[in-house]
Amino acid sequence: MSETTVAERKSIEQIVHVSIDAQIENLVRSHKDLNITRAVKAPSLATGADPEGVKLLPKSSKKRLENDHIDLSKGYPEIPDRSEIPVFVDQAHAIRDYDMPYIERGKNADPEKKALLSAAKEVKDLTTHIGTVIVGLQLADLTDKQKDELALLIEERGVVFFKNQKLPPRKQRELGEYWGNLEVHPQTPHVPGLPGETVIWNDYLQKRGMNINFKNCNYGNFDIVRYGSVGNQVWHTDLVHERQPAGITHLHLDAIPEVGGDTIWASGYAAYDKLSEEMKKFLDGKKVVVVSYHKYLDRKDPFGEPKPVGRIHPLVRTHPATGWKFLFVNRSMTKRIVGLTPVESDVILNYLFDVYEKNVDIQVRFNWKSDPGYGTSAIWDNRSTQHRTIWDHEGRISRHGTRVTSLAEIPYFDPKSRSQREALGLPITKEA
Ligand SMILES: [Fe+2]
Repeated sequence: MSETTVAERKSIEQIVHVSIDAQIENLVRSHKDLNITRAVKAPSLATGADPEGVKLLPKSSKKRLENDHIDLSKGYPEIPDRSEIPVFVDQAHAIRDYDMPYIERGKNADPEKKALLSAAKEVKDLTTHIGTVIVGLQLADLTDKQKDELALLIEERGVVFFKNQKLPPRKQRELGEYWGNLEVHPQTPHVPGLPGETVIWNDYLQKRGMNINFKNCNYGNFDIVRYGSVGNQVWHTDLVHERQPAGITHLHLDAIPEVGGDTIWASGYAAYDKLSEEMKKFLDGKKVVVVSYHKYLDRKDPFGEPKPVGRIHPLVRTHPATGWKFLFVNRSMTKRIVGLTPVESDVILNYLFDVYEKNVDIQVRFNWKSDPGYGTSAIWDNRSTQHRTIWDHEGRISRHGTRVTSLAEIPYFDPKSRSQREALGLPITKEA
């Protein structure tokens, strides 16, 4: 047997003295083809800007990006490099794990919203409980006063829609910065050079290997634990695992299928008001364990199942601008009610998910279609609503957009706060 050389001994010593988790981290970071810690299991998903993606970009989207001088020469979209993506769950948890100052713009607004509403050609509620369309205003031209009033309108109505918009990505980002702290995601694709301008483009992910099809796109609505969520087709609220979760969130679509590709939102104020007064009393003050969509490795069990980032937030929250209570749960990311047995927690949470998902009178379904050459914006309060998309276009027709998320306050529950129906003086049925 040959003796080990000095060089070989040195290399063995190096391996021995580097901890296992550091070796794993190094392995994950240096092998970009490994799917470890990737939320979307797409073998061909690139890191950095994707030269192949540019070829798939719809014409209308490309035009919008180029008009705003976005550099597409290296590729599109830009996917954070392996070296930047957290490997371990503690690394992901540490992102924004500190107090961020937050100005609640809706709180400073004129409650009558005169500057915004008087400038619009038409303001139309789409349903009684959620969703309003504003016609005749360009989001790119709003004054600060109008932005404050729009924030309040979004917070009262859950979601506000603007069709026929000319909205450059940088303007969308600026608007988001006005309403809160920009969320910059460690994993999701973004517009090149504009972190925080998240690309929402499921047909791209599908073409790069994500398994989403007509049959499986709704599996998660039957059993999220067993079947998982493919491409956000399950009811959810974005980014609930953040220390200061998402507030006002703005999706602008610049490529819209001729038919389909709708999105549905549901009101959390109304979901709370659907409950009996006894149930409300029971839930007020309770806390829930919420988790991230993306999963990472556990240092103590690196070869085990990847784990999501977890945090504890109130189950019933008080909105800082409207002062109304809302139900802060969703099927995708709320895992457990603190203090209950797992069985009790499952039964109650599943009921609360159903309240959101099955009461169609507290939902709005929106079709994004605008006139040719224009895009459509939906701006919603990611605190007091849930949403989901509809994959009926099956990726055959492009649906592309950019999303900017403004992070809001640390969630709280004020026992003195009222429900929306109480505050508005609407009838509340008391159970016998
Ligand atoms: Fe979402």
